[in-house]
Amino acid sequence: MASTTTRAVGVDIGGTGIKGALVDISTGELLSDRVKVATPEGAKPDDVLAAVKTVLERLEVTDADVPLGVAFPAIVKRGRTLSAANVSDRWIDFEAEQFFEEGLGREIHFANDADVAGVAEVRFGAARDVDGLVILTTLGTGIGSAMIHNGVLIPNSELGHLDRAGHKRDAEAWAAYSAMEREELTWDKWAGRLQWYYSHLEFLFSPDLFIVGGGVSKHADKFLPLLDLKTPIVPATHRNNAGIIGAAALSIG
Ligand code: BGC
Repeated sequence: MASTTTRAVGVDIGGTGIKGALVDISTGELLSDRVKVATPEGAKPDDVLAAVKTVLERLEVTDADVPLGVAFPAIVKRGRTLSAANVSDRWIDFEAEQFFEEGLGREIHFANDADVAGVAEVRFGAARDVDGLVILTTLGTGIGSAMIHNGVLIPNSELGHLDRAGHKRDAEAWAAYSAMEREELTWDKWAGRLQWYYSHLEFLFSPDLFIVGGGVSKHADKFLPLLDLKTPIVPATHRNNAGIIGAAALSIG
C-alpha cells in the first residue's frame, strides 16, 4: 500500500470541465476514479471554487491532510492569475492561490494547467529522460503549452496565443480542438490548421520533441499521422489526465 506521503489530489480546472483524482505521485497512477464536473458558465471565481469543492467532496478528499495541487488555464505568477482567455476576466490580476486556500480551508499548490501536464510527462511519461527542448501542447478549449529544457520547465510560455500574421484570430482561436468542434471541421481540415501551428513552432524553437495532450489526444491516430514535421510528435502518455497527475505531483514537490 502506498504511504500517505505519496498520495496527493490533483484538480485540473479547464475552460469546459473541472477534473480531479487521487494520485500516487511516486508512479503517476490514479488511485481513484476521475471525477469531472462542468466548468460553470462564465467561470467566475466563486462558481469555480464551488465546483472544485464538489470535485473534492465526490472524491472524498476534503481532509486537509492530503496534499492538493490545482491547475488553472491562465498565466500563474507567484499565486496570482494574470490572464483570462477562456474564463471570467475577474481572474486577471487576482490572488487566486490565496482565494482557493481560504475558500477550501487548506494549503494548495497552484500552477498553469499546461505547465503541470508538462511536469507529469517529464516525471512519468513521454518527456522522461528526453534531452533538449520538449514542447507539450494541450489541444482543448484553448491551446496550452509547456516548454521543458533538459527536464526543467520554463513556465508560462502561452504558445497558444501566437499571432497569425494578417488574421484576427490567434493560434488558439483558430486551431484549438474547440475550433474543430465549433466549426465542425473534418480531421483533415483541422490537421491543416495544426500543420501551420506546429510548423510555426518548429521554425521558432527547433524543439527535439512535441507532445500533444488534451482530451483529443486519445484520438491522436486520427490527426498526428496527417502532420508533416521534422520534429517527432507523440501523444501525451497520460492523455487528458496529465494535468491532474502533474498538479498532484507538484503539491508534494
Ligand atoms: C490560456 C493558457 C492555458 C490554455 C489551456 C489558454 O487560453 O491562456 O494559460 O494553458 O488556454 O487551458
